[in-house]
Amino acid sequence: MSRDELLSMLESRGGGGKIVTGEELARALGVSRVAVWKAINALREDGYAIESVKARGYRFLSRNDVLSEASIRRGLKPRFPGGRIEVLKTIDSTNAFMKRMDLSAAEEWLVVVADGQTAGRGRKNRPFYSRPGEGLYMSLLLKPDLPPDETRFLTICAGLAVCGTLERVCRLESRIKWVNDVYCNGKKLCGILTEGAVSVEQQRMSHVVVGIGLNTGAVDEEVGDIATSVQQATGRRPDRSLLAAEILNRMESLCLELAGGHKKKLLDEYRDRQLVIGRTVQVMTGTETFRALATGIDDEGALIVENETGRIRLSAEEVSLKLN
Ligand code: BTN
Repeated sequence: MSRDELLSMLESRGGGGKIVTGEELARALGVSRVAVWKAINALREDGYAIESVKARGYRFLSRNDVLSEASIRRGLKPRFPGGRIEVLKTIDSTNAFMKRMDLSAAEEWLVVVADGQTAGRGRKNRPFYSRPGEGLYMSLLLKPDLPPDETRFLTICAGLAVCGTLERVCRLESRIKWVNDVYCNGKKLCGILTEGAVSVEQQRMSHVVVGIGLNTGAVDEEVGDIATSVQQATGRRPDRSLLAAEILNRMESLCLELAGGHKKKLLDEYRDRQLVIGRTVQVMTGTETFRALATGIDDEGALIVENETGRIRLSAEEVSLKLN
């Protein structure tokens, strides 16, 4: 019996004021009543509100949304590389926090998660609204054997990991707006900021920090026109620890595919998830702004756009896009 199976059974059979007996849960999950009782106590320790109704069973009152190392670890696959997971209450930025560490000595798959950020940042140093309790703000340290211009594949992996997680955990369909934003219902749900350092002699990345900011609860009024959250899109607040664990599990599988040379498979999935292909976009490079039709993603992950001047290949580093 997994924790998720018990949770979804408790929610479906013991939610909305109904009572579910320990025996019914044990039978449905193929375990003993004692095992159910122990698992329910573990869920309570994680902050789930589950009422015991004397001699009758259990009533599920509310889902947990407490970020903790223990609850993230519980959702990780056994094969997840067992690095350090640091859960912070409030920090300026989880990426900045990680970059202040001695990353040459730190182990790969180090994870930093915060309940809120006071100076969350996005690409081009834009602020990323990070209200406490209302989002998942997470950074992950990777040490891939990649040349610098392939670092964007890690951003691609992160986008796919987030979309896959939203689909599986929240039953929410989302799309990727090249290169690093996840969208739902025309609004931004998640941003990804990938930063790294290069070993000059080897022309390989010495480390990469992948920062993921996913709106889960209330959305700031200031960005309400352009941003959305899981709660806004589904009507339910997700369990952020569960989301963090699932994103990490998926990242691990996707990074294995990347290391195994399966770029084409990753790119095909990335293309399938694209929001911009077939649409007119406004392209902003450092020096000019123009409109063009987005026609595809090439084998390096660059966006291909076309307009009256011809076919243009856009590399993520220098470009911002607006949907028209
Ligand atoms: C973007 O929208 O351009 C990217 C946003 C990335 C936000 C995440 S939240 C966790 C990590 N810490 C940060 O300061 N930024 C990233």
